[in-house]
Amino acid sequence: MKTKTVKSIESNRVTIFDTTLRDGEQSPGASMNQREKLELAHQLADLNVDVIEAGFPIASPDDFEAVKAVALAVKGPVIAGLARCVKQDIERCADAVCHARKSRIHVFLATSAIHRRYKLRKACSEILKMAVDGIRYARRFCRDVEFSPEDASRTEPDFLAQIVEAAIDAGASTINIPDTVGYAIPSEFGRLIGSLYETVPNISRATISVHCHNDLGLAVANSLAAIQNGSRAIECTINGLGERAGNAALEEIVMVLKTRPESFQGAWTAIKTEKLYKVSRLVSRLTGMSVQRNKAIVGANAFAHEAGVHQDGVLKKRTTYEIMRPEDIGIEGSDLVLGKHSGRHAFQHHLQRLGIQLSAREMEGAYQRFIALADKKKKIYDDDLFMIVREGMADSTRIYRLDYLNVTAGTGTVPTATVRLCKGQQVLQDAACGDGPVDAALKTIDRMTGIHGHLLDFNLQAISADKDAQGEVSIRVQFGADIVSAKAASTDIVEASARAYLNCVNRLLTIREQARGARKPSVKARRA
Ligand code: KIV
Ligand code: ZN
Repeated sequence: MKTKTVKSIESNRVTIFDTTLRDGEQSPGASMNQREKLELAHQLADLNVDVIEAGFPIASPDDFEAVKAVALAVKGPVIAGLARCVKQDIERCADAVCHARKSRIHVFLATSAIHRRYKLRKACSEILKMAVDGIRYARRFCRDVEFSPEDASRTEPDFLAQIVEAAIDAGASTINIPDTVGYAIPSEFGRLIGSLYETVPNISRATISVHCHNDLGLAVANSLAAIQNGSRAIECTINGLGERAGNAALEEIVMVLKTRPESFQGAWTAIKTEKLYKVSRLVSRLTGMSVQRNKAIVGANAFAHEAGVHQDGVLKKRTTYEIMRPEDIGIEGSDLVLGKHSGRHAFQHHLQRLGIQLSAREMEGAYQRFIALADKKKKIYDDDLFMIVREGMADSTRIYRLDYLNVTAGTGTVPTATVRLCKGQQVLQDAACGDGPVDAALKTIDRMTGIHGHLLDFNLQAISADKDAQGEVSIRVQFGADIVSAKAASTDIVEASARAYLNCVNRLLTIREQARGARKPSVKARRA
């Protein structure tokens, strides 16, 4: 009896496969450098995800190195890499993930009629053979092989069932059903998963996973419908980051299962939910993609009660208006304050509390930046600490550094900026006018670097309370065909804007340099 209970609890466990580093990073402008990817992978392991998809090793040498670095350094979760069903991809993927204690090769191949006809120009029989050959080849390198029939939700159900059966026979132990273009609706997607359990004879030999995109805003709902129909693995990303409108948001799926287990046959995940908020903020900082204030679970307003009647209710009994506790997500009690008199020890202690690991040299640099900031503002909050650390991470890719900025602006004045930049040993200085102080500063930077960016988004947010708070500027800039995002913070918002813009320029130059070094098409062009 006891064994039976244990078994059924285990069979209801939902594997959380995090693809923030792969699909999430494919989000336009969300690229991360290797150092940042490693930092995030450690935090994902700390969150207790089951699988980390660390990248697409064949996409670029940089992707390969990042997957390899994660495989070498991150313990706990399975480390997966993505590959098309072609030998070269699979070999490259195997070379990157083989360093992990637990590794997985995730092969994919489009199966829908539209992809077969227009993209691959192959018949069903050829697709079937490619999938089987790819899985068999991947099994030569790795026991754990996952197969994704890309665009599964638009694939003819009979052909889908046929290829799933063949994939399991060929050795795939996870079959992932992607709603690649976010076209499915929950009732239909749930039925699709249920029908696979009914029609595929060897289905019990594999775990059925799903991977839903959010084009119609249904990624989480579709993933949950799949769980209700037997799926026990979900591919998702922190903050729902991902291609186009993104992927299913990990934090939403996990908290739905935690809050409403009775609606999901007791399905559960092993995620340490009290770490969700911290990881969400880390992803936002690393990618420069802000989380909307009213975003479920991790948005700034998710637990804010504005209406008087709600506040009154919450004070009398919290559960009148709160279905989850902020501390379950790690929101409360996180914002301890440091100040100018806090010593090195307190500073290090708070970084450790936030799960930030730095080398002795990085710690010293971060501490110096902390002292400089504490001189300008009274209270240093967690978000300020994240900023300080992020500034250090940018160092490795910092080609241009802002050394001096002076702007004159005001009613009846022509806004003018004087900028001094350092590039290696070179010191560059110039001045320009604009239609405001930010415009003047960015135009001056354009003149000095010779790279002209077009600002797609500009967001300014105070990152803590008080008038002396740092302003965080998040921007997205288009440079020709490339779109890059970055953030920077300062108590001076024009300086924050100039530094965020310069971070974009530096990021762009690094990406272009790597693409040149590889003498291969750009990362984006090679991605699936
Ligand atoms: O959206 C998709 O189909 C994918 C596959 C590679 C799993 O990302
Ligand atoms: Zn995807």
